[in-house]
Amino acid sequence: MPPAGAADKKTEILEIDARNLQTDLVERAGQVIRDGGTCAFPTETVYGLGADGLNPDAVRKIFEAKGRPGDNPLILHIAYPEQIALLTTELTENARAMAEAFWPGPLTLVVRRSGIVPDTVSAGLETVAVRCPSHPVAHALILQADTPIAAPSANLSGSPSPTSGEHVVRDLDGRVDMILVSDDSQIGVESTVVDTTKVPPVILRPGRITKEDLEAVVGEVRLSEGITSGAEPEHPASPGMKYTHYSPRAEVYLTDGTDEETERAIRKACEDADGTIAILTTGPVTEKLRDDMIVLSLGDDPEQYEHNLFSELRRLDDLGADRIFVRMPAAGDRTLAVRDRLMHAAGYRFLPKDE
Ligand code: TXA
Ligand code: MG
Repeated sequence: MPPAGAADKKTEILEIDARNLQTDLVERAGQVIRDGGTCAFPTETVYGLGADGLNPDAVRKIFEAKGRPGDNPLILHIAYPEQIALLTTELTENARAMAEAFWPGPLTLVVRRSGIVPDTVSAGLETVAVRCPSHPVAHALILQADTPIAAPSANLSGSPSPTSGEHVVRDLDGRVDMILVSDDSQIGVESTVVDTTKVPPVILRPGRITKEDLEAVVGEVRLSEGITSGAEPEHPASPGMKYTHYSPRAEVYLTDGTDEETERAIRKACEDADGTIAILTTGPVTEKLRDDMIVLSLGDDPEQYEHNLFSELRRLDDLGADRIFVRMPAAGDRTLAVRDRLMHAAGYRFLPKDE
């Protein structure tokens, strides 16, 4: 957890209209970044906590505000795809093709870093992660700040990523200089992260842009160990993947398999469990087995699951759930991101299959 006493800043909270940007607000936010301060802002994936990505002192404030371990590198956000040239010494043909196909959008490219990138951003690695977001507020803010903006998700380290302004305010009010509040995040899970220094390229974190989407552009793409196996990776490919992540306060347990198998496993677990139980379902609906039980659905298709996942995990905390039993969507290209986030939220804990 972040150090006690860190939440004593005066945070300016501004509501900004993504369809009709108030230029004076964008100018004020850009000034905060230029002055070395911290400003949270919406992107199409999740809200980010930004600072001047070329200013090590400013970048350090991000780590402090989030309580983020210093060995977990940050993504640099640029306004236009061409600006990646400033940040890398070597743009591979694959990286160029993926940027052209998916930027601006929810894709992060890991590339060899240039000398301009501070060590604090890349946590001492030889590479840097770069993304060109499509959200109008993010785009305008980066332009106005006139520098690449370093931005992790705008949550306290370890809790679910924020998909609404309210989530950000709850986590970071008093810890950052400014929060730009706009609509809820359209996508709801963080960007797909791809290591483009490898041949074939390797997906380090799955997101809305899938392996098949990428393969349609560059040919073979691999998944890093741990994403494929569904077990905790021994040597995480991406530093961020080794930390317990996206975790609500409640204990999360997963079920996987046929509808009958998941139903049986949950029924059995409910018999043994005390406290307030919640069921988070994808597809099949589990009936309430007790009066005080909470049943929530993530939706009907993978895009809805992604859109709703983090907000529903936070909602379950607010509702006082002690244990969350999750019916995972069946494995597949388009469910990989939501399964990955669920496995992290659960710390890879599965309910035993009831034979
Ligand atoms: O959608 C997103 O990507 C959001 C929005 C705000 O843009 N940002 C985000 O940042 O999710 P963050 O810091 O929460 O996640 C960045 C991920 C981490 O898993 C980190 O370890 C990985 O990217 N990463 C960053 N730089 C890396 C590098 N040089 N090599 C490998 N992984 C890297
Ligand atoms: Mg994060």
